[in-house]
Amino acid sequence: EPADLVAAFEARVAADEFIEPKDWMPEAYRRTLIRQISQHAHSEIVGMLPEGNWITRAPSLRRKAILLAKVQDEGGHGLYLYSAAETLGASRAEMIDALHAGKAKYSTIFNYPTPTWADIGAIGWLVDGAAIMNQVPLQRTSYGPYARAMVRVCKEESFHQRQGYEIMMTLAAGTSAQRRMAQDALDRWWWPALMMFGPPDDQSPNSEQSMRWRIKRDTNDELRQKFVDATVPQAELLGLTIPDPDLRWNEARGGYDFGAIEWEEFFAVVRGEGPCARERIEARRKAWEDGAWVREAADAYEMKRRQRLAA
Ligand code: 3HC
Repeated sequence: EPADLVAAFEARVAADEFIEPKDWMPEAYRRTLIRQISQHAHSEIVGMLPEGNWITRAPSLRRKAILLAKVQDEGGHGLYLYSAAETLGASRAEMIDALHAGKAKYSTIFNYPTPTWADIGAIGWLVDGAAIMNQVPLQRTSYGPYARAMVRVCKEESFHQRQGYEIMMTLAAGTSAQRRMAQDALDRWWWPALMMFGPPDDQSPNSEQSMRWRIKRDTNDELRQKFVDATVPQAELLGLTIPDPDLRWNEARGGYDFGAIEWEEFFAVVRGEGPCARERIEARRKAWEDGAWVREAADAYEMKRRQRLAA
């Protein structure tokens, strides 16, 4: 690519300008954004499955209505992000095919099962909490459509996180069986939530370029640390114990030291070996096939509309 165009592009990014769809951009910038935004969208859509599992089982009408609203929001976030990826020339069908073929990733966190109602609390509190840590900085990502999509997404994520934490507060203040259910959910979701932020910085092949082009504003480890520091006091408020014997406040650092993450588990889940991996992709494939008639009807309608206009 012409060196002067790359230099002008890098100067704009360094000056914190937004890059818009019609602006010149290096091919590698376009490609890595399609990679990240499409996988972000896949994460939102697949993330509807573990939570959707509890819509018909919610313990009250109020909880059911809230969960229904949250799952609908996640679907909206996914469609928003697929549209942002399309501004870079990606096609919806290609992105969906890549997910179904196991070529594109979705967040590891959605490969874990949700056996109890407390999982819905832990997902809202920890998974949406981690998503907020990761998505707030993305409001300043250098690609305009992605940054603007994040502004809307972040507003809804705070509702998601708060409703999850409220579920955990209710359980933690409930019977001993409810408290045990809340602690069991924290035990199962704590470490996978830390893995959401991605591999350690020294094993993160995309970070150097993404930081230089201000796609990523903080590194994986920086956001992970911020999440731990913000979440430990919330667990203490609930009277729940974080399943990490090495967790302790480090006054000198002004943050928590925490135990080693099972990176072997993380990389296995990224490779598609997560507990629910097959079930998740099967469900997405079935939903896509079941919805084919709607897409065909919309295409037929559009064709007739254009013929009427052309007549
Ligand atoms: N799950 C699956 N794959 C992951 C992963 C995770 N938690 N973390 C990293 N990876 C993959 C990366 O995609 C990359 O593979 P690729 O090159 O084939 O895409 C590889 O592991 C190496 O990781 P890197 O750190 O080099 O990759 P990135 O620089 O892209 O950083 C990221 C990873 C921090 C997840 C970044 O892509 C990102 O910020 N993405 C946007 C946010 C996002 O996708 N969040 C997922 C959750 S969405 C959600 O939680 C919904 C909420 O509403 C509940």
